[in-house]
Amino acid sequence: MNLKRTHFIEEIHTDMVGEEVTVCGWILRRRDHGGVIFLDLRDRSGILQVVFEEGIDPQIHRLADSLRNEFAVSIRGVIRRRPPGMENPKIPTGEVELVGKDLEIHNTSITPPFPMDEDLSEVSEATRLRYRYLEMRALNGHKPLIFRHKINQSIREFLDRQGFVEIETPYLTKSTPEGARDYLVPSRLYPGKFYALPQSPQLFKQILMIAGFERYFQIVRCFRDEDLRADRQPEFTQLDLEMSFIKEEDIQQLVENLLSFLFEQNLGITISTPFPRLSFEQAISRYGTDRPDLRFSLELRDVSELARVSNFQVFRSALERGGIVNGIKAPAHFSRKEIEELTQLAQNLGAKGLAWIKYNKEASQLEEKWVSPIVKFFEPSILTKFEEVFDLSEERATLFFVADEAKVTRHILGELRLNLAQKLSLIPEKTFQFTWIVDFPLFEWDDTENRLVSMHHPFTHPKLEDLDLLDTEPLKVRSRAYDIVLNGIEIGGGSIRIHRRDLQEKIFQILGISKEEAEEKFGFLLQALEFGAPPHGGLAFGLDRLIMLMLGKKSIREVIAFPKTQRGQCLLTGAPSAVNIEQILELHLLPGWDK
Ligand code: AMO
Ligand code: AMP
Repeated sequence: MNLKRTHFIEEIHTDMVGEEVTVCGWILRRRDHGGVIFLDLRDRSGILQVVFEEGIDPQIHRLADSLRNEFAVSIRGVIRRRPPGMENPKIPTGEVELVGKDLEIHNTSITPPFPMDEDLSEVSEATRLRYRYLEMRALNGHKPLIFRHKINQSIREFLDRQGFVEIETPYLTKSTPEGARDYLVPSRLYPGKFYALPQSPQLFKQILMIAGFERYFQIVRCFRDEDLRADRQPEFTQLDLEMSFIKEEDIQQLVENLLSFLFEQNLGITISTPFPRLSFEQAISRYGTDRPDLRFSLELRDVSELARVSNFQVFRSALERGGIVNGIKAPAHFSRKEIEELTQLAQNLGAKGLAWIKYNKEASQLEEKWVSPIVKFFEPSILTKFEEVFDLSEERATLFFVADEAKVTRHILGELRLNLAQKLSLIPEKTFQFTWIVDFPLFEWDDTENRLVSMHHPFTHPKLEDLDLLDTEPLKVRSRAYDIVLNGIEIGGGSIRIHRRDLQEKIFQILGISKEEAEEKFGFLLQALEFGAPPHGGLAFGLDRLIMLMLGKKSIREVIAFPKTQRGQCLLTGAPSAVNIEQILELHLLPGWDK
């Protein structure tokens, strides 16, 4: 390195005309205009046009002639105003150019696998991940990660001011049950024993509250071996926080203020607080999911009672089996083919069918107003009731119905709701619709394991007014948990924790965890709870998801420097990969195979 950088490209301004500077970076484009070579030089901060003229220094000009895309260079030169008409308003340095005096080529480059100056969305994800460093180096490739860095700074600034202490917790630890499979790390020194990578720092942050820190946070990696999708990675980052001597509202208010700060400072967007609160029950019955997208309405309606007095056998028999009939109104008519597609979608989700009725408000005849093969099963008086239930104020609408077990019915219509909103372009862009979901059940029944499991995690406090139900009707007990949902995606979750040993033991017992097992797995927590554990609670954000949504990206992979594929591979390094047999033997993984 003979030429030392004096400026980043973003620092170069019109008022520097005549100044000598040295810039470093990569060649984005090169054009040869016979005797004059034009380059677009790119560094992390911007693009600058560089000109090498044969007349100035033939030797340097010859060197510049050998430059190709993505060569790494340093260039010393003088800033000059571009000739009139040659300005480029698209880039901040567009009024000037650098007249090259000296050039140092640090490295050549073979041809990149994709163009580095275009939108890369057409390039396959496999190629982009394999050459992730080029994708990030490419035009605008740094942006999401620089934004993420800024968010981290804002988080630290805000929480520090609120008295939170950033504390690191171990990665080589014991299992923390968050509902996924653990990644295990065999111990070389203790044959047959394993560390688990944390699914979250849940127990450590509770212990930190018992240690008296009062307010903790951490931007921390969590590891979960689960099926991946666009908003899930095997390792992902949480903004994890915990507070002592507080109630639900304290955490919720802090989180609302934190989000307001992040949006204001980094996007210039004012979000309105407090966020609406929906109970789990309301969310499920109105939107068919506990992470409703509230950017549009299309609410589910219960029409079980109207269906019960109809002659439609499909509905009546679902009701007789203890099911429900729900409907949803789409403010449009659909072609036969579209209805078939929607039916297929419902069936793929487990529906037995999808009933529909087309509605024409202004039609004078009943059979033109309500069009469907199933209308004949409904008395006109019931049809009129539909107008009320679905608030049929539009000219044309279609009602869709599903009859099944409550859980199935709601799930299917919840998905149909999202699909219809997309199809009908009902989702406003660039809006951020937050909501809290509260009053979750403490437990749910797990059919495969045939036992109660925690809906959040086993350390969640039951609602005080429901404590009496623990022994009699545990499925009716609600918890002091809360989720935060943004545009239909769960971006965070938390709860007030159990801070008494007896209650924690009782919950373990209800979950079918024996005394011995509880002692073996969580003995350290149970013991710590006995030393004056304060009331405490907290929350963890899925930071990747939050940043994805703030940037309007479709997948968290776009905001992670080195993401894994849907199948958990790192295409850049080739992980997971084979290891040699000596390494395996050392870990005592194969009983009887020890050295
Ligand atoms: P929870 O399990 O709800 O809570 O996780 C918190 C948030 O983390 C995000 N998240 C994920 N993001 C990307 N990939 C994944 N595989 C993934 N799994 C979860 C979600 C989720 O809302 N210890 C508790 C928090 C607490 O009680 O304080 C916990 O981990 O956005
Ligand atoms: P069928 O009488 O089976 O021909 O069904 C009449 C209509 O009801 C068809 O449009 C089916 O898709 C629909 N259907 C059947 N089963 C259900 C169900 N469980 N929920 C909603 N619609 C259904």
